[in-house]
Amino acid sequence: MVFVTRRAEFSASHYYHNPELTPEENQRVFGKLNNPHGHGHNYVLDVTVQGDVDPRTGMVVDLKDLKQIIETEVMQAMDHRFLNEEVPAFREVIPTTENIAREIWWRLQGKTGAGRLYRVRLYETADLYVDYYGE
Ligand code: NI
Repeated sequence: MVFVTRRAEFSASHYYHNPELTPEENQRVFGKLNNPHGHGHNYVLDVTVQGDVDPRTGMVVDLKDLKQIIETEVMQAMDHRFLNEEVPAFREVIPTTENIAREIWWRLQGKTGAGRLYRVRLYETADLYVDYYGE
């Protein structure tokens, strides 16, 4: 079994707010992250697929195809977006790093060709990342 990781970077803004909490509770739980004008991050995304090396090509997955699916499913949807307002999934779900990683997983799952999606790793900053391995 071989694991292949493709990295992509995108910039996006977000804020944290739970409509089921009062304004005071939101402020207490999320602090300055509750500011509805949002703040930005330069996210770094590592998408890892697993599979066997195809003896005919020497590859697990065509990296061009993997790059293209990340472009289509993640970059076009999230790069330079205000996640809360421009990505429908985050109208109901708080766009934390955890939830963004899960949303990226769901967008990529089943679309990575011969390589089975193994892990989505999302860095919010250089020293903080979230791993998601599916349910
Ligand atoms: Ni943030």
